Amino acid sequence: MTDSSIQNATQGLSNHVREEIDGWLTRFPADQKQSAVLGALRAVQHEVGYLPVEQMDAVAEYLSMPAISVYEVASFYSMYELKPVGKYTISICTNLSCMLCGADEVVEHLTSKLGVNLGESTPDGKYYLKQEEECLAACCGAPMMQVDHVYHEKLTIEKIDKILDELDSK
Ligand code: FES
Repeated sequence: MTDSSIQNATQGLSNHVREEIDGWLTRFPADQKQSAVLGALRAVQHEVGYLPVEQMDAVAEYLSMPAISVYEVASFYSMYELKPVGKYTISICTNLSCMLCGADEVVEHLTSKLGVNLGESTPDGKYYLKQEEECLAACCGAPMMQVDHVYHEKLTIEKIDKILDELDSK
């Protein structure tokens, strides 16, 4: 997290996030503001890196909905993070097709190379290895993973190392 995103975590919604939410609000009837909650949380997470309670409360207020309803949405979907995590998020699919094509080895290699378990971030704050994902709809490319929602398919150990090398050099 940058200094400005730490600051944002404890403040109200930034102008940029408000603009993004306003964009979503144009797509729904005026009396259905809560329909923008997914987009609103996405905008906050993109800016802050996760969803601090203060920001979820601010979203609730902005969309005129109970805070508990925002917490329910945020805790239901695996794409939202409720605590600070590493800069790059790696999601490994371990569902059937990927499992049959070697997802276990992908998990084994990444946990051992990064020195963290699934659901943990590296101590340097660079990588976040999410809990195993259900099917990410790329079965033809199994085994696969996402890095910050970018698909990497037909993974091999060499391919994984190359992806990490490229991220390390950034
Ligand atoms: S099972 Fe892994 S993408 Fe479908």
